[in-house]
Amino acid sequence: MKKNTTVVLGITGSIAAYKGADLCSRMTGKGIDTVVIMTRAAQQLVCPRTFLTLSRNPVVTDLWDVPDWRPGHIDLSERAALLVVAPCSANFIGKMANGIADDALSTFVLSHEGKIIIAPAMNPKMWRNVAVQENMEKLRRRGVIVVGPASGRVACGDEGQGRMEDPAAILSVIEEALR
Ligand SMILES: Cc1cc2nc3c(=O)[nH]c(=O)nc-3n(C[C@H](O)[C@H](O)[C@H](O)COP(=O)(O)O)c2cc1C
Repeated sequence: MKKNTTVVLGITGSIAAYKGADLCSRMTGKGIDTVVIMTRAAQQLVCPRTFLTLSRNPVVTDLWDVPDWRPGHIDLSERAALLVVAPCSANFIGKMANGIADDALSTFVLSHEGKIIIAPAMNPKMWRNVAVQENMEKLRRRGVIVVGPASGRVACGDEGQGRMEDPAAILSVIEEALR
């Protein structure tokens, strides 16, 4: 694995955002320089300070909250080897598939020229939705690496495919992509 390579970890508004914190901790533990960008919905579910502490880097929570002359997403795109969105919500899959850039994370997606890994996480009914599946097909065609979702019981009690893949499994895919 390359040393001193920045990986951007996007956290979206899925209940699995807490597992994103576990992934972040594992990434830092492996010596991966991790910069976290959270959507507004993600911040309703997990606190940015959790990621500040686990990543040991400032957390990007707002596209406009940049003290420098240079927009943060452009600066970050020059040092990011890899973008990982875990968990990736149904909404965010749709934004990625359709090139929408209306917040810090989705704007970063458009400025990032490296590899992308996503770990979808949602209710099985949402995962089965035809719009979500069509959007997933677009992302796969573009070479986005998709990890999961796994099958089992989701947070609301439903059973089926939709659980975010285990952080340890996502970490293995990250390490492979960085080789
Ligand atoms: C408690 C709660 C849990 C949610 N969990 C999920 C989820 O696991 N997956 C998902 O796709 N959406 C989930 N949502 C809906 C998203 O948060 C919502 O679609 C939001 O607009 C996503 O925004 P984002 O993609 O910018 O993070 C959840 C909403 C609530 C209120």
